[in-house]
Amino acid sequence: MSNLVAVIMAAGKGTRMKSKLPKVMHSLAGKTLIEHVLDMVEQAGVERPLVIVGHGRECIEACINKRAEIVVQTEQLGTGHAVMQAMPYFEDDQTILVLSGDQPLLKAETLDALVKLHQEQGASATVLTAYLDQPFGYGRIIKDGEDLVKIVEEKDASSDERKIKEVNSGTYCFKGSALRETLTKITTQNAQGEYYLTEVFDILLKRKEKILTYCTVNTHEAFGINSRGQLAEAEKIVRTRILEHWMAEGVTIVDPASTFIDADVELEQDVTILPFTRLSGKTRIEEDAVIGPQTSLENCIVGRGSEVFNSVARDAMIGERCHIGPFSYLRPGTKLGAEVKVGDFVEIKNSWIETGAKVPHLSYIGDTHVGKSANIGAGTITCNYDGLKKHPTKIGDHAFIGSNTNLVAPLEVGEYAVTGAGSTITKNVPAKALAVERNHQVIRENWHREKI
Ligand code: UD1
Ligand code: CA
Repeated sequence: MSNLVAVIMAAGKGTRMKSKLPKVMHSLAGKTLIEHVLDMVEQAGVERPLVIVGHGRECIEACINKRAEIVVQTEQLGTGHAVMQAMPYFEDDQTILVLSGDQPLLKAETLDALVKLHQEQGASATVLTAYLDQPFGYGRIIKDGEDLVKIVEEKDASSDERKIKEVNSGTYCFKGSALRETLTKITTQNAQGEYYLTEVFDILLKRKEKILTYCTVNTHEAFGINSRGQLAEAEKIVRTRILEHWMAEGVTIVDPASTFIDADVELEQDVTILPFTRLSGKTRIEEDAVIGPQTSLENCIVGRGSEVFNSVARDAMIGERCHIGPFSYLRPGTKLGAEVKVGDFVEIKNSWIETGAKVPHLSYIGDTHVGKSANIGAGTITCNYDGLKKHPTKIGDHAFIGSNTNLVAPLEVGEYAVTGAGSTITKNVPAKALAVERNHQVIRENWHREKI
């Protein structure tokens, strides 16, 4: 958007959250509030917004990760004071879009429409409003007919004013010059003793400048998060938006009420998500895969046509046409080729299991490379830890690991090699060899005596 500067206020502590974390660092559908706002501003075409930080600034700055210019508000004296800190960063002839870091549900289209109206009408200031059934806590929009008379905070409002349902969303456009001239004149004469940004409107109205209100019909967009209760409400709204989006893109979600999908998850066409499933972080599920029921995947890639049921995986890559579950646990660094089977009570960590290999039951595979079409028998454990260090195991293509084998790493088992069930293998096994480590079976004939 042309000649536009965006200022995001995010310096407040968020006292009502009762948290060690600054408010804008709380997470909503897997992303912090401030990231949601940055995404939306970027989508609206603003390249480098300004973010006003103060309370907990180090962690907010780290999270923003250079996506925005940082402006510090050392003392948090109110929203007006926050925007004052941005004065050196804008020109008089620019449009200043002011947003709050605690309003993650706004849509880029709405910002576009707000800026367009403001610029086309040549207003000095335009405020984004919404009608809320429960306006408690918000600044109210007091109007005479269509004209704004003032914006009054809940704490400063009369009981009649509090009945008004049109609220200040906390998002505004200003002409640079109008904002600069009025910001220097605002006071702290109000119930909270703060510099309210909304007082700018009083001054502009006295100066008979052109002020507009733009009411969004999607009331959710005005939703500001001040408390944990509101955070949970916002989560519900975002979650519904995400689920509706993926269903519209051709994903089957059998039970939206028990499905949780984070904002950055990607799903391809004809994916099916079964109930009680959570997909989080940067997870990507490719075409025709079936996930769930009761599955939790975080930062995972699941290849085309794979099936993951009743399982948990984190930072794992699952190839095409794999069968995972029930009760598999794939930990960070797991990489599965195509058509791999991982079955019940199997834990895999930092291992590469190549195409067609199987780990069907009751195994721990850690720091291991399993070759193509190898079969890992039930109860196999890679003993990768000697108490001090982790060691690798390599199992060749087509190897057959007998049930209940302990593979004491570092260890290599060659191609087509076989280990006998119950063996503790401590030495490398050459290709095509059989390794058995087991006492001979003893038979005592007629050992059983009838009790007298
Ligand atoms: C504000 C508005 C209110 C509006 C509501 C919408 C004012 C005076 N009130 O109230 O009319 O209905 O938003 O959600 O503007 N911040 C700073 N520095 C400060 C104080 C606040 O950066 O010194 C930041 C906060 O971190 C937050 C944003 O400004 O991201 C809004 O502050 P908050 O205290 O949440 O304002 P509200 O009471 O919600
Ligand atoms: Ca707020």
